[in-house]
Amino acid sequence: MSPPDRYAVFGHPIRHSQSPRIHGLFAEQTGQALTYTAEDVEPGAFEPSVKQFFSEGGRGLNCTVPLKELAFQLADTLSDRARLAKAVNTLALREDGSVHGDNTDGVGLLRDLTENLGIAISGQRLLILGAGGATRGILAPLLEHRPARITVANRTTAKALQLAQEFQPLGPVDGCGLEDIAGLNFDLILNATAASLSGELPPLPAGLLATGGCAYDLAYARAPTPFVRWGISVGARLSVDGIGMLVEQAAEAFVLWRGVRPHTAPVIALLNAERQAPG
Ligand code: ATR
Repeated sequence: MSPPDRYAVFGHPIRHSQSPRIHGLFAEQTGQALTYTAEDVEPGAFEPSVKQFFSEGGRGLNCTVPLKELAFQLADTLSDRARLAKAVNTLALREDGSVHGDNTDGVGLLRDLTENLGIAISGQRLLILGAGGATRGILAPLLEHRPARITVANRTTAKALQLAQEFQPLGPVDGCGLEDIAGLNFDLILNATAASLSGELPPLPAGLLATGGCAYDLAYARAPTPFVRWGISVGARLSVDGIGMLVEQAAEAFVLWRGVRPHTAPVIALLNAERQAPG
């Protein structure tokens, strides 16, 4: 019998990654024989580590912070969505030995928002906080769903203006500084800053979220993030973190690698139940 196919996630830090768990559950559910591990890889070691992984029989990799731009540069071929995002979170080894790069973050977010959570995008006013790699990865798929407008607000205004200009051909998007959003009002606010990761929240003005509006943090943590707590405190209809996006982007990678689509709902339910358990 041949050994199971090997997959892994590379990142730095990687200790708290849920990806091995999620892919393990997918493999069990779909009867696929594979292993999936988490490897701490610093940016300087990324390229040789990827080469070694694939030369030793690895079949596919996920890449997370801070390696997604490096994965984009390394891939031999790219999907359209990876090209737009200028970032790659999924690498797949092809039959001919070449490495294909894809980005499943955006589609993962959209699946979680629209299918799992029932949050409409069409005709809605969206605010994205942050203008880094995470925002770049979600702008195109969000614009595809025809929001009334997307405003990107960032601590460094120039980066928000630059992103807005780049994505304007795809739909109505504008950029501004965090200090410029006072007095504005949105139906859906997404937090794509790295602030959540360090337990921080950029200062947000009162009245930012419309009545019946929703708050979504792309980050996730065992306990509610500061942004999720902010959403609850201002009366959001739904205020959730990105655990659903994490599972959905993993499912898209699984489809690319294995050609089989796992059921995500039971995996999201299990991870949520574990977070609510004491300890
Ligand atoms: P990622 O790939 O996760 O998006 P990134 O490209 O480093 O990471 O971008 C991080 C984003 O979080 C940026 O928009 C950053 O704002 P700046 O462009 O002004 O640096 C934002 N960010 C990080 N820490 C923040 C904080 N404490 N308050 C507000 N914004 C923050």
